[in-house]
Amino acid sequence: MKIPELKIGNITIKIPIVQGGMGVKVSLSSLASAVTNAGGMGTISSIGLGDIEKSKNEFEKESREALVREIRKARTQTDGYLAVNIMGVLSNAEDLVITAVKEGIKFIVYGAGIPFRLPAIVPDSSVNLIPIISSARVVKIILKNWDRTYNRIPAALILEGPHAGGHLGFSLEQLDDIDNNSLEKILPEVLEVIRPYEEKYDKKIPIITAGGIYTGSDIARMLSLGASGVQMATRFVCTEECDVADVYKQAYINVKKEDIQIIKSPVGMPGRAIRNKFLIDLETMEKKTIKCPFRCLTLCDAKNAQYCIAVALVNSFNGDLDNGLLFCGSNAYRIDKIMSVKELFAELIAGIEAV
Ligand SMILES: Cc1cc2nc3c(=O)[nH]c(=O)nc-3n(C[C@H](O)[C@H](O)[C@H](O)COP(=O)(O)O)c2cc1C
Repeated sequence: MKIPELKIGNITIKIPIVQGGMGVKVSLSSLASAVTNAGGMGTISSIGLGDIEKSKNEFEKESREALVREIRKARTQTDGYLAVNIMGVLSNAEDLVITAVKEGIKFIVYGAGIPFRLPAIVPDSSVNLIPIISSARVVKIILKNWDRTYNRIPAALILEGPHAGGHLGFSLEQLDDIDNNSLEKILPEVLEVIRPYEEKYDKKIPIITAGGIYTGSDIARMLSLGASGVQMATRFVCTEECDVADVYKQAYINVKKEDIQIIKSPVGMPGRAIRNKFLIDLETMEKKTIKCPFRCLTLCDAKNAQYCIAVALVNSFNGDLDNGLLFCGSNAYRIDKIMSVKELFAELIAGIEAV
C-alpha cells in the first residue's frame, strides 16, 4: 500500500501515525520530538506535570510552567508540528489548553470528557481541535453542539477503541464484549455520522483510529477501512526516546498477555494496566484514607478511592513500580525489545508498504 499523508486543517503530516499522549510524564518532549522528526505527529502530554501534594494554585502554576518548558524543549529538538494532549477531567484543563495555544501549539487533542467549551476557549480556527471519542453517539453530540454554537467542526477525531491503554471510554460490560465494540464496528458508524457535516462545511474530518494497532499491516487495515491515520501509544513506550524510567520499559517487555487487566480507576472510568504488585496488593489491602489536597481530577471519587491515581502514576514514572500503576494497551505483551523511534517507524512503514 502506498502510504497516504495525513492532512489536518492546512497541515500535512507525512506519515499518518500520531503518537498518543501518555499521561503523567510518559510522553514528554523527548518522545514527541522524535516522533515528529520521524515524519509522524508527536504528542506532549500535559497531564500530571505539577506536584499534587502542593496547593491547587501552586500545582496549577507548576503544571503550566512545566508544559511551557516541555514545549520549548521539544522545539529545540524539532522544527515540525507537535500536539498537546489534555484530559477534560483535569481541574486545570482550560488553563493547559490556553497555555499550549499561547506557546503556538497547532494541535489540541482533548480526551476524557465531551469538549463542549473547547471552541470557546480556542476561537482561533488555525488551531486544530481534535476530540478523542469512542462512539458514534458522542461524535453526533459534539458535531451538533459545535455546529450550532460555534459554526465549527473538529479538525479531526481520534476514535479510540477498546484495546487502548490508559482510561477507556467504554463501560465494563462493553469491555467484556470487545468484538461488538471493536474499531471495525464503530468506524463505519462514525464515518456515517460525520458525512453530512463534511458536506456542509466542505471539509474532510479525518478519523484517526487508536487502540491495539501494533504492526504496519494493522495500520494498512485501518486505512483501508476509511481511517485517515492511526494513533499509537503502547509501542512508543519501549523506544529509547520515551521519557519513562528503564524499569518501566522493562515491565512492558516482561509482561505476559494474562497479566494485562482492566481496572476501575478512581476517576470512575475503566482503564487497562499491567497486573503488578501494586494492583495485586490493592485486592487484599484494607481501605486507607488517601490524602487529597484538592481534587486535581474533577471526577475523582477521592473519599472512596483506594489510592491516589496521580501519585500511583508518578511512582511508575519514577521507577517505583511496586507502588505504581502502569497503564498499557492490550498488545503490550507483544513487545520484546527497546528500539529507537526511527527504527520503529522504519518497521511500520515497511509493514504498510508490504500490504
Ligand atoms: C501509558 C499510557 C498512558 C496514557 N495516557 C493517556 C493520557 O494521559 N491521555 C489520553 O488521552 N490517552 C492516554 N493514553 C491512551 C493513548 O494515547 C492511546 O490512544 C492508546 O493507548 C492507543 O492504543 P495503543 O496503546 O494500543 O496503541 C495512554 C496510553 C498509555 C499506554
